[in-house]
Amino acid sequence: MNTISSPLDLIQLLVGYQPAATISTASRLGLFDALTDQPQPASEIARCLAVDDSNLGALLRALAQLGLVSHSDGEFAATPFSANYLQNNSDLDMIIRKEAFFSTAWSRLDEVVRSGHPILPPWKERLHARSSQATEFLYALDALARLTGPPLAELPELTRGRILDVGGGLGTYSRALAEAGSTTVLVDLPDVIELARDHLADLPAGSVEFVAADIFSESACGIEIESVDAALVSHMLHDYPKETGVELLRSANRAIRPGGFVVVNDFANDTGPAAFGGLFDLMMRVETGGAAHSLATLGEMLLTSGFCDVRRVAFPDPITVLIATKDS
Ligand SMILES: C[S@@+](CC[C@H](N)C(=O)[O-])C[C@H]1O[C@@H](n2cnc3c(N)ncnc32)[C@H](O)[C@@H]1O
Repeated sequence: MNTISSPLDLIQLLVGYQPAATISTASRLGLFDALTDQPQPASEIARCLAVDDSNLGALLRALAQLGLVSHSDGEFAATPFSANYLQNNSDLDMIIRKEAFFSTAWSRLDEVVRSGHPILPPWKERLHARSSQATEFLYALDALARLTGPPLAELPELTRGRILDVGGGLGTYSRALAEAGSTTVLVDLPDVIELARDHLADLPAGSVEFVAADIFSESACGIEIESVDAALVSHMLHDYPKETGVELLRSANRAIRPGGFVVVNDFANDTGPAAFGGLFDLMMRVETGGAAHSLATLGEMLLTSGFCDVRRVAFPDPITVLIATKDS
């Protein structure tokens, strides 16, 4: 276990918000779009962005020290990374915006701990309000899954036959599994399915079936009982307390043929690196009222909902992929 034993170590943790705020400020100001591979003085960039040149200079120097801007002879330019990855609406820009939004909720963690309730309204409400934040959040999740998710399409359990993608969002994994040869059934709420149809419009017709359903009000996640060979439950269980997670797994279980598989992709609260698991758990409590469950709890949830033979796939931490077989 990591033990803090010097004031300096603690202070380094306390100022952890500063790099994040510096990066999200640059994104909000459009600074990464204003930088080119031609070095420019801060005053010139400040003029283009109509901002204060002294403070923009400070922002640019800090970004240079963080490794996101090139700085030489008082002039600033994009780095190959910032030019390729940080332009407005790029994958990482969506993720920067998501984290900036959630940092405001994190600043109210004390309320969450006192009340036992999350800061944000339930997902369905956020979605129904059709807020741009809810849509941007789905695109950020899609980017996160593509940039950092495990290669689920390498698992034989998910690439043979008909696969249910429970709460599949914009269909990042549905796409990967369909491209690997399976027929995927993407189930999500109606507003999300509308977006997913557009997002996957380039795939061959029929490789992904779209089902608009509330997985908690349908007996088998909104599809026919025992009609799929396997179900993927990716980043779903952490959105709910344990009992609701078991309800979700039971619904998925009913959709799977006897002897078929469930694959859970999630983060457990007791895996690293460092404090990752514990902080992810807090994030779920702030955002959704769910929880990152422990590895043991995830296993127990699978056993209680009609699966057996639970095993963890050997992906590096913090990736937590569990496979279990439906009892015959
Ligand atoms: C955290 S995202 C996970 C998305 C995707 N599976 C992934 O791994 O990136 C949760 C998804 O569950 C969907 N969802 C939430 N409640 C749902 C419900 N009651 N019925 C169907 N889908 C639901 C959300 O719309 C969202 O797409």
